[in-house]
Formats: sequence, C-alpha cells, structure tokens
Amino acid sequence: MGSCGALGLGLLLAAVCGAAAELHTLRYIRTAMTDPGPGLPWFVDVGYVDGELFMHYNSTARRAVPRTEWIAANTDQQYWDRETQIVQGSEQINRENLDILRRRYNQTGGSHTVQWMSGCDILEDGTIRGYHQAAYDGRDFVAFDKGTMTLTAAVPEAVPTKRKWEEGGYAEGLKQYLEETCVEWLRRYVEYGKAELGRRERPEVRVWGKEADGILTLSCRAHGFYPRPIVVSWLKDGAVRGQDAQSGGIVPNGDGTYHTWVTIDAQPGDGDKYQCRVEHASLPQPGLYSWEPPQPNLVPIVAGVAVAIVAIAIVVGVGFIIYRRHAGKKGKGYNIAPDREGGSSSSSTGSNPSI
Ligand SMILES: *[C@@H]1O[C@H](CO)[C@@H](O)[C@H](O)[C@H]1NC(C)=O
Ligand SMILES: *[C@@H]1O[C@H](CO)[C@@H](O)[C@H](O)[C@H]1NC(C)=O
Repeated sequence: MGSCGALGLGLLLAAVCGAAAELHTLRYIRTAMTDPGPGLPWFVDVGYVDGELFMHYNSTARRAVPRTEWIAANTDQQYWDRETQIVQGSEQINRENLDILRRRYNQTGGSHTVQWMSGCDILEDGTIRGYHQAAYDGRDFVAFDKGTMTLTAAVPEAVPTKRKWEEGGYAEGLKQYLEETCVEWLRRYVEYGKAELGRRERPEVRVWGKEADGILTLSCRAHGFYPRPIVVSWLKDGAVRGQDAQSGGIVPNGDGTYHTWVTIDAQPGDGDKYQCRVEHASLPQPGLYSWEPPQPNLVPIVAGVAVAIVAIAIVVGVGFIIYRRHAGKKGKGYNIAPDREGGSSSSSTGSNPSI
C-alpha cells in the first residue's frame, strides 16, 4: 500500500489525507480481505509516521518489519518481536471479524474487506487527537470517540459491536492508548527520524492552459515536495478564487515526496489575469506562477540565420565553423516571482475485541 489515495475509503481518506494543522501523525492501517487476489496476503498492517511508511506486516511473512532507515537504526530485535506478537494477535481477531461480519450481513460469498485505522496526532497547538475506527466493504462501520469514550455505530449492523464494547469496558484502555502510549511513541519516532522527517524539499511547479469548448482550463501542478502540507491556490487579478478551483488532493509519490494539482476554468484570453500561488514550508515566501501561452516558434528563424552565416563564412574562406543550435525555451513555460503580498511498551494498538 503506502498510499493514502489507494485506500479508496471515504472514511480513511478524510482522516489520513485531510488538511489540518497537524504537527505529527502516527497511523496504523490494517486491512483484512476475504479475497486478496492470487499470491497476495489476506491481512496487511502498515504504520505511518507523518505520512511516511515505517512498518509493514503481512499474513504471508507474519513478521513486522522496518521500512525506514531511522526506525531500523533505533530499534532492536525485542521491539520487532513485540510488534510482531501484537499484530499477529490482531490478524487472528480480524480473521474472526470477517466471519462475524459475513454472518451479520447474511453474506454467503463475494469479496469482503475490513479496514481499521487507528493512531494519534499532535496538533500545532499541542492538542492530541486520537482515532480508532473501522470500515466494512468501504463503508464506515464503527468509530471510537475518545472525548465521549463511546463507540459510534455508523450502520445498524454495528450496533451489536457497540454493545459488546460497552459490556466489555474497552473504552478506558483505548482512550489511554490513544492519549498516552500512542503519543509517547509518536514523539519517540519523530525524534528517531528527525533528520529525515524534518527535511524540506521544494515543490517543482508547472502551470499550463488548455482550451476546449470555449473554456480555458488552467492547471497548476506542484511536484516532489516534502513535508506534505501545502496550499496551492489560484488568484485572479490578485484575489483568491477558491470556490472555482478544483484540487486532486495531495498524493504521495513513491520516493517519499508528494504531488498535488489545482485547476480552474477561465475565459479564453483571460489567462494572463490568473496566477497560481504555492505556500510550502520549503519556500521562504509563497511562490507565484503564471501561465505563459506558447510563443511563436523561433527555432527555424534562428537556424536559417545560422545557415546564412555559415554560407557567408565559407564564401569568405574562414574555414569551418562548428556551431551548436541553441533551441530556445519553447512552448508552455512557467515563471516564479516573489509574492507581492509579502508576505508503554509498543506503539501498535494493543489487542482489540473482535467486532
Ligand atoms: C510481505 O512481507 C514481506 C516482508 O515481511 C515482504 O518481503 C513481502 O514483499 C510482503 N508481501 C507483499 C505482497 O507485500
Ligand atoms: C439476515 O437474516 C436474518 C434471518 O433470515 C434476518 O432476520 C436479518 O434481518 C438478515 N439481516 C440482514 C442484514 O439482511
């Protein structure tokens, strides 16, 4: 997995990819499938710190393994043994969950998936947020609210689960995990990985326009940036046009950086009134980028002049001239200008009751 976009669950997308003033995040995503596909594990558990995949477990290997240098360098075999034990317990519970849910929904076959998302955030103001929620076949099933210490049933089929939780008294332990254990480990991980997690990579920004059916669609794409938070907005005559803009979300690249894009529809001929503004931790001030419609192609003219000069040179007997034709920057360009506005013992969730 390793991609929040690939989860395909509204619940999880909103939580994992939502824009907020998060300073640091720790997330575990557990997926149990009745029908994983040939050769693929039916159960996968992955851990992310600040959106970066650092731990992986699957039901084929049955081992929790490090996925970043910083976690491998700062943990010992005991740590991985403990993590493995906990996730193996969770694997067993989720095998039961798939059976329980199929019975509860009267399903005799087909392909079904249980997905858990749990973890904690430290926000910029020091507030702690905690998550522990499940989805079944892509739809919200239950969610724990640590404020009220209740499990919310999103569908009638989840009511027996809610009851089981209340009778079992699981809320207290989970609240403690989310507010203490999880946060302690998150702080520790951030410290381990501070060189990598604290790095800043500037976005490469491209702006282009495309006209079709009397509409000019302007697109602004920021690529290869880190960390994840970024604000890309379209300005018309210097004012933000948030309501007209459409974004594709912030999506991870395979290399630990992110990309995003925002488009806006404009009147043909209005292209020069628009600017794309990019705000990111790597930029000392917001960058402004505008679309430069394609220029007439000067290359043939330059080449023609060069040929004439060579011909003349030969005629006057200067010998031979080596020249390289410098192709001008052609087509869809972009530029940047400063903004004028200045402008416990383990980090995994402990054993859980079954659904
Ligand atoms: C399962 O985990 C092992 C390592 O623990 C890894 O080598 C393998 O690629 C994983 N399988 C899949 C399908 O991700
Ligand atoms: C499952 O079947 C039982 C008995 O036939 C029925 O009472 C129940 O409402 C069904 N549940 C669902 C979710 O269809």
